[in-house]
Amino acid sequence: MISKGLPGFRDFPPEDFALRAHIFRVWREVAARYGFEEYDGPPLEPLDLYTAKSGDEIVGQLYNFVDKGDRQVALRPEMTPTLARMVGARANGMKKPIRWFSIPQLFRYERQQRGRLREHFQLNCDLIGEAGPLADAEIIALSIDMMRGFGLGPQDVRVRVSDRLFLSSALRQLGIADAMTPLVFQAIDRIEKNAAAAREMLDAHLDTVTVAGVFRLTDPAHRAELRRSISAATHFGAALNALDEMGFGEWIDFDPTIVRGLAYYTGTVFELFDAKRTLRAICGGGRYDTLLGSLGGADLPALGFGMGDVVLGELLKDRGLHPSVGASIDVFVAAVTPADVEHVLKLSHELRDAGLRVEFALNTQAVGKQLNLANARGARLAVVIGPDDRARGEVQLKDLVYKTQEAITDSSLASHLSSLVNDSRLTTPNG
Ligand code: HAM
Repeated sequence: MISKGLPGFRDFPPEDFALRAHIFRVWREVAARYGFEEYDGPPLEPLDLYTAKSGDEIVGQLYNFVDKGDRQVALRPEMTPTLARMVGARANGMKKPIRWFSIPQLFRYERQQRGRLREHFQLNCDLIGEAGPLADAEIIALSIDMMRGFGLGPQDVRVRVSDRLFLSSALRQLGIADAMTPLVFQAIDRIEKNAAAAREMLDAHLDTVTVAGVFRLTDPAHRAELRRSISAATHFGAALNALDEMGFGEWIDFDPTIVRGLAYYTGTVFELFDAKRTLRAICGGGRYDTLLGSLGGADLPALGFGMGDVVLGELLKDRGLHPSVGASIDVFVAAVTPADVEHVLKLSHELRDAGLRVEFALNTQAVGKQLNLANARGARLAVVIGPDDRARGEVQLKDLVYKTQEAITDSSLASHLSSLVNDSRLTTPNG
């Protein structure tokens, strides 16, 4: 017997699927409010789509293999290269800015830990074809409204924002050559978690004074002062001001340690974290103005974010913001004797056609056992069909919540039940 699935891959029994469906529903609702259209691409791509542009970290985590036609292929570890290829190929005829979103399942061979698995679903929202700072504010605002859509506030989630252009010029002022910037970015990316960041920079022959300068630049104690030095006349400053004007200032922390692990970002970069910082990042994104052109398509500025379902799901469970699993049916139809079954079948299908969620016993059972099943399914109502009631043209209607029972004429049943069920759906949110 195969007793276990692969490590890092999830089963979704209904109670877990309910959380996943809730997350997808909120993602779709909020994306629609910003005018985003949904798309998808293939889960398997040519390997070089990632080796060319994504950066070493993600390439080291690829699920790649040679297919039966001798092609080097990989399961998608992220959506951005697929999006860049798709849009790059058809952008010329499209109205800009392009606002697209997708919810792909992604695969990364990571070391499994809390919040990190080998597959996850990731909301991707990207804006393509707009270079101005309002696009940056719009994308960050969308990520914040996603959090609000789940009932989370700035006391729960912080948006840590930086700008690779700002950071590059600060590094230049420390005397660091442009050729060294990627290495220093990588060290800064790890500076909070990893004392080895200093070693990496020293090993790359940066002198101690310069390395101390990098630490000073990223020190939380100097952050407010650094934030004040960002002029509103710059792209980044204008984006931050626009976020204030949108009313999202209290969510934002300027944080120069945010550089992002992926290689293609060119400007604004940001990540969302739970405020207590007990979990991994909920969301990450930024501007990638050169990626589309470098993949050979239309050369358009672009930016966006990816938001995973794993950390978000943990946070919602922590805060009690996950949906409770509701009743799976509205009405159970029970037969008193085998002769009643044909009437049960007929009525059940009339009620289903009327839009009600209906179940009946699939084998002969005592009425008590059938009502037990009705209760286990969370049914609000049960209809019991027996020979005596049938002779009078009636059925018994039981309200399983209020424990009442009444005889109803068979002919008025469907509309009577529909209105009862619809009333109770209005009063029980997860019904
Ligand atoms: P990323 O930072 O690699 O960005 O992933 C974005 C989010 O996906 C993370 O913050 C995390 O919530 C989730 N995530 C990533 N890896 C895993 C994993 N192994 N298990 C669970 N969740 C995970 C990107 O992928 C960029 N392509 C996002 C983007 C879109 N940038 C611009 N547009």
